[in-house]
Amino acid sequence: MIKLKADYVVTMNKNYEILLNAEVLFDKKIKEIGYNLPGKSIYLGKNSVLMPALINTHTHLEFSANKTSLIYGDFITWLESVIDKREELFLSCKGDCYKKAIEEMKKSGICAFGEISSSGNDLKYLKHSPLKVVYFNEIIGTNPAVVDAMYQDFLNRLDESLSLENENFKPAVSIHSPYSVHPILMDKIIQIAKEKKLPIQAHFMESPAERSWLDKGEGPFKLFFEKHFKNAKPLIKPLEFIEKFKNTNTTFIHCVYANEKELEKISEIDAKIAHCPVSNRLLNVGKLDLEKVKNYKIDYSVATDGLSSNYSLNLFKEIRAALLIQTDLHPKYLAKDLLKAVTVNAAKELNLNNGSIEIGKDADLITFKLPESVNNLDIIPLQIILHTNEVNELYINGGKI
Ligand code: BEZ
Ligand code: FE2
Repeated sequence: MIKLKADYVVTMNKNYEILLNAEVLFDKKIKEIGYNLPGKSIYLGKNSVLMPALINTHTHLEFSANKTSLIYGDFITWLESVIDKREELFLSCKGDCYKKAIEEMKKSGICAFGEISSSGNDLKYLKHSPLKVVYFNEIIGTNPAVVDAMYQDFLNRLDESLSLENENFKPAVSIHSPYSVHPILMDKIIQIAKEKKLPIQAHFMESPAERSWLDKGEGPFKLFFEKHFKNAKPLIKPLEFIEKFKNTNTTFIHCVYANEKELEKISEIDAKIAHCPVSNRLLNVGKLDLEKVKNYKIDYSVATDGLSSNYSLNLFKEIRAALLIQTDLHPKYLAKDLLKAVTVNAAKELNLNNGSIEIGKDADLITFKLPESVNNLDIIPLQIILHTNEVNELYINGGKI
């Protein structure tokens, strides 16, 4: 049993309690939170913070070799560069490349991440990851000539990941997007997710190109599909796409161009949204309307996306970017929401038993120090986001990593 004492214990419980000079007692799970608890405590020092470790819901570590290969600034140009460089990037990301990516997440206090795997190349590097992994086997493919082969490949990857399931490695599924997956494949995969109770992720309404393609079969995607697939037409309406995920645990990634009806539908089926502000900025697609997301009472997480559309996997940097980009929301209240996004909300999206300091939760915790004391408790989340880049300690299942 370990007992830590910190100046600020940010519980992330339902009442958003921040306790001063409090103690947390844990082994693999959190046992007790409070004052004068039994046993000898380790005091974390002046201005110390103890809070739940962060969760990065959406990454593509397969692309971690990218630094300058992919072309930023325009969605379709970027997508073409991904198609062009994909194999090359995959081949150049091996052991050290995955290790570096995980190390950066670890330093920024991430205990768990959602990995979107399109190839299965990443499995051998991630199955023994020191951080918890929720492994989203992704399907892509609209061309009827290849859907059977794509499905078989998906099933093989899913089976392999299912055989590796343990406390720290959980399989899941991902449908790349409404424009890139054949509806027949969508149905088959959603059915599997329902039967096996697996979380789902899908990119949704990331770019204006996706909006005009799905609404009218027009815009830059028309040329893209003519070039790659000849005479393709959009295969599904956006609302129909969302509706398919009823009665599942689904997170829609981006939603920058989701309209009111779609947000209403996302809310109605109790799906979630992952906000990736840096990726959206680099691909120059604008920003998610977080105020609307809040008005529709949709829970959201914040994620880095992959190094295919980011310069960093540090989640403190990502929520700081969100804080600075989301200028319609008051920084004090937005900061509170952003800490929730990368802890409690993220845990729900990934079906994890962590994300808050409450009895019975996994002891996935981080410790770090603020530069000075903070008198007003209400402002602590904002000060944490402004002043934290790396953590001092990361505990996963009660063990120091
Ligand atoms: C496809 O494989 O059908 C596809 C891939 C990327 C974008 C659109 C479609
Ligand atoms: Fe993504």
